[in-house]
Amino acid sequence: MLTQGTIGGVRVQPAEGTTVTITLAVANQKGGVAKTTTVASLGAALTELGYKVLLVDLDPQACLTFSLGIDPDALELSVHDVLLGRVPAAMALQQTDDGVTLLPAAIDLTGSEARLVTRVGREFALRDALAEISADFDWVLLDCSPSLGILTLNALTAADTVLVPLQCETLSHRGVGQLLETIDEVRKRTNQELDVVGILPTLFDGRTTHARAVLADVAIRYSVPVLEPPVPKSVRFAEAPAVGRSILTTAPTSRGAEAYRVHARQLVASMGRSRGR
Ligand SMILES: Nc1ncnc2c1ncn2[C@@H]1O[C@H](COP(=O)(O)OP(=O)(O)OP(=O)(O)O)[C@@H](O)[C@H]1O
Ligand SMILES: [Mg+2]
Repeated sequence: MLTQGTIGGVRVQPAEGTTVTITLAVANQKGGVAKTTTVASLGAALTELGYKVLLVDLDPQACLTFSLGIDPDALELSVHDVLLGRVPAAMALQQTDDGVTLLPAAIDLTGSEARLVTRVGREFALRDALAEISADFDWVLLDCSPSLGILTLNALTAADTVLVPLQCETLSHRGVGQLLETIDEVRKRTNQELDVVGILPTLFDGRTTHARAVLADVAIRYSVPVLEPPVPKSVRFAEAPAVGRSILTTAPTSRGAEAYRVHARQLVASMGRSRGR
């Protein structure tokens, strides 16, 4: 059973003994802005805090699946089979070494887009599939592909809130307006309660005044919070997926790992959660 996390846009505190599952879509149609890294790292940080976390790979490139140590080519079942209603989501879940549960992707997810497009209720396929399992988790994080196609619309329809990673460089904000317009459309048509938790600055190089200027510009341009602290640019992030773990394990005391821990705690606080075990 999925318990709604919001009522009329106001987050409600769960009653004693009940669970509110928060579903967070990590989306930006611009490629390479650290969506997948953010999902893996926040997932690991929320797990460290004692929450049960499900990650969903919604990118046919299957980078999240691969980066958590699972070979997408060796999977018998993936999110593709789930979205097309062939199997319940519970059957396709994988446990990862990072301690999170993964609904993995494989290359056949490209085919899901084409198949879903012709279906009635196509935006609701993910929400319906997750409804059967999300009560088993405290957090469900959705890793979107770099597009505003049907898979991302499914993520935005299934989500309570959206986090937008943004690389701090010139013109990086240019897709943000379009994404926010899409979110408005989703609110009107398929998910009235959808919130935006904020923009997460990523690949941040604090040595340049330029990165700060980009952030200041974004904060003025859009009425969406820019979250602090920015996630620093670090070679440590490139090393983690190679061993199938997140940076929280491979470089646990690095500034990058610490930044994601801070954001995990802030997410918990901003969603009215205080259920650390
Ligand atoms: N803070 C960081 N510092 C340095 N490198 C990073 C950082 N965050 C992510 N990266 C690297 O940047 C690259 C892109 O990151 P990632 O795959 O998470 O982006 P993405 O938005 O999911 O990309 P896509 O749009 O293709 O799905 C990866 O090689 C990743 O290791
Ligand atoms: Mg990605």
